[in-house]
Amino acid sequence: MDRNEGALGVSRRILVTGSASGIGAALAEQLRASGDQVIGLDRHDADIVCNLTDPAQIDAAAASIAGELDGVALVAGVPGTADPETIFAVNTIAPQRLAEGLAPQMREGAAIVAVSSVTAGRCPLDVQACDAWLAMTPKQLANQSEIVDGKTAYEYSKGLLNRWVQTAALRFHPRNIRVNSVSPGAIETPILRDFEVSIGEEHLAKAEQMTGRHGRPEEIASVIRFLLGPDAGWINGADIKVDGGLHALRAAGKTVEEPA
Ligand code: NAI
Repeated sequence: MDRNEGALGVSRRILVTGSASGIGAALAEQLRASGDQVIGLDRHDADIVCNLTDPAQIDAAAASIAGELDGVALVAGVPGTADPETIFAVNTIAPQRLAEGLAPQMREGAAIVAVSSVTAGRCPLDVQACDAWLAMTPKQLANQSEIVDGKTAYEYSKGLLNRWVQTAALRFHPRNIRVNSVSPGAIETPILRDFEVSIGEEHLAKAEQMTGRHGRPEEIASVIRFLLGPDAGWINGADIKVDGGLHALRAAGKTVEEPA
């Protein structure tokens, strides 16, 4: 495939899931503005329309992409208001299946970035348990006794995603393909209304009070874009927390009122 000169240098070819809304849409816009070619994937309004709960549709989506890729941004996700099986399917299993299905097409030196969440920190599983859970189907994951509701499923789904990032970094390392994740705090996108339901309006309001505001989708997109690019060439297998300092402020006890 030809590598055309974009506005800021060599044009890269990058797949973005969740491109129809929020963080994925902001990322697609930033990448296009810097001259990259974006292939958007979403349930609707995308170059590739694909329901990520369906393994057959994921495989068909991967097979439909001809030519090499320089990057894959796994942004699509569902909140804790969805049912646990869907949460594990979209947030944990689909990113793995898609990235691994696209592996043969990924150029040496390419990068994968998955969007996790700061709530992944609430997943208490150790690495051995995570690896065992990562071998399960979404239905089996949803049926684990620890998964008591959508909120827990969401936290575990992102904790497992972070563990997958580490194992994928190991597997892709021989081909010089980096794999990282970004963990946002609360960000102003349509999904935030769902988090108010699953996490609690009060909790999110306290977090907002502590940092002064919620984050903006473009503030996560810019970190994903950095991790996709050569300036992040020595960052691999890492999870970058992007939460306006919320967790540091809490840990440092900077405010008088600690969020629940
Ligand atoms: P959003 O709701 O604006 O975008 C999510 C996108 O994923 C939508 O375009 C949706 O159609 C797509 N999607 C959902 N299920 C899908 C499926 N089955 N098949 C294909 N596409 C599907 O939400 P946002 O905030 O942009 O979310 C992006 C990522 O950021 C998610 O992984 C989310 O868990 C994560 N995140 C968001 C936070 C926030 O406060 N907004 C906080 C922490 C993490």
